[in-house]
Amino acid sequence: MKKLQVAVFISGRGSNLESLIQSSFKKQSLVEVQLVISNNSKAKGLVIAKKNKIPAIHFISRKNFETKVSQYLQNIDIICLAGFMQVLGTKFVRNWRLRLINVHPSYLPAFKGLNAQDQAIKAKASYSGCSVHYVTSKIDSGQIILQKKVKILKKDNTESLSKKILIEEHKIYPRALQMVAKRLIVKKK
Ligand code: GRF
Repeated sequence: MKKLQVAVFISGRGSNLESLIQSSFKKQSLVEVQLVISNNSKAKGLVIAKKNKIPAIHFISRKNFETKVSQYLQNIDIICLAGFMQVLGTKFVRNWRLRLINVHPSYLPAFKGLNAQDQAIKAKASYSGCSVHYVTSKIDSGQIILQKKVKILKKDNTESLSKKILIEEHKIYPRALQMVAKRLIVKKK
C-alpha cells in the first residue's frame, strides 16, 4: 500500500519534526514525511530535514503564504504543524479539514496560546501535558486526537516542565499521526 504523504510545517528547533521523521522510517508506518515547510530561514529544523534528505522550503514573507505553499502540497495527504508559529488563514484551514494537525504543549483545553508551559507554572497547576489536535480556525481548539498528562512538581520551573512535556510530545505526535492516517485510509475505502 502506498504510504500517505506528510508535510511538516516548522518555525524553529524541529525536535517534533525529527520524531515524526524517525517514526515514519518504521516498517509499519502508514506515512512518509515528504516535505518540510518553514517560515523561518534560520530554523534548526531545516538542518534536520537536510540530514534526512527531505526537501525543505522556506517562505519568509507572510504575504500570500498559503497560496504560495499550496503549490507544493498537491501530493500531500496530511499536514503536521510542529512548532509552526504562524496562524494559517481560514480558507486554508477549511481546505485541510481533518488533514491538518498540531501539537500543543498543554493538556488542552487548559493553557491555550503562547507560552503554555509558563502559563501552567504561573497558574500553579498540579499538572499540564501535551495534546495533538486537529487544527480549526479557533486557536488550539480543534478536536483532540491524543493527549498526555505531565505532573508539575514544586521544584519545576518553565524550563524543566517544558523538557518533561517535550519528551511526551515526541511520543504522542507520531502515534496521533498514525491514527489520523488510519482514519483517512478507512474513509477512502
Ligand atoms: C513544542 O513544544 C510544540 O508543542 C510547540 O512548539 C514547540 C516546538 O518544538 N507548538 P520543536 O520545534 O518541535 O522542537
